[in-house]
Amino acid sequence: MLNGSSIRKSAHPIDRQFLDRWSPRAMSGEPVSGEELLSLFEAARWAPSSGNQQPWRMLFARRETPQWDTFFGLLAAGNQAWCARAAALVVFVSHTLNSYTGRTSVTHSYDTGAAWGYFALQGYLKGYVVHGMEGFDYERTRQVLAIPEAFRIEAMAAVGRPAPVEVLSAQLQAREAPNDRRALEQTVCEGAWVLPG
Ligand SMILES: Cc1cc2nc3c(=O)[nH]c(=O)nc-3n(C[C@H](O)[C@H](O)[C@H](O)COP(=O)(O)O)c2cc1C
Repeated sequence: MLNGSSIRKSAHPIDRQFLDRWSPRAMSGEPVSGEELLSLFEAARWAPSSGNQQPWRMLFARRETPQWDTFFGLLAAGNQAWCARAAALVVFVSHTLNSYTGRTSVTHSYDTGAAWGYFALQGYLKGYVVHGMEGFDYERTRQVLAIPEAFRIEAMAAVGRPAPVEVLSAQLQAREAPNDRRALEQTVCEGAWVLPG
């Protein structure tokens, strides 16, 4: 798998892992054991959260298990095209209620996003492709996976072993490269809002 830093350049000094992690689509179709996946879930477990409430929940299916077809069937066709060679699909869900007060949590998505970030980075560091997805049927996911109403379905991720770009269609091959980011000056400001909309 190409390291992102072979193309990406940071404007300020950062650890190389942040440039190296990216979201390829080319995967080999080889399986990943439940034990190997546990390292990714374990990294997510150590994410920070408001009041240490850990609102994230993860549901997953591995290839060649009875659950695979169910999870795969939730994906949009565009994602199915390349996820057919993934080893696992993971649904990230967050608890929308504050576990101390029972009222609506204001940080459940924020906290779960941090957990997903740790998951993705750990997956990259172990040499896996980890690719986030919003292209799936959220309503059907709730029904089919019996996700309770108090939990928000955030996103899915595909995990797999990397493969040469040639496993992808010509259209996807053309997109298979680490992308760039907007300039920090457009995203961060000192003091009150002076950022572009
Ligand atoms: C929450 C989320 C949803 C995404 N949805 C999709 C998707 O449905 N299909 C897809 O091919 N990529 C999807 N992506 C991948 C993003 O396009 C990708 O992360 C972004 O372009 C940044 O590139 P990088 O991850 O290679 O740094 C998603 C990523 C995230 C974090």
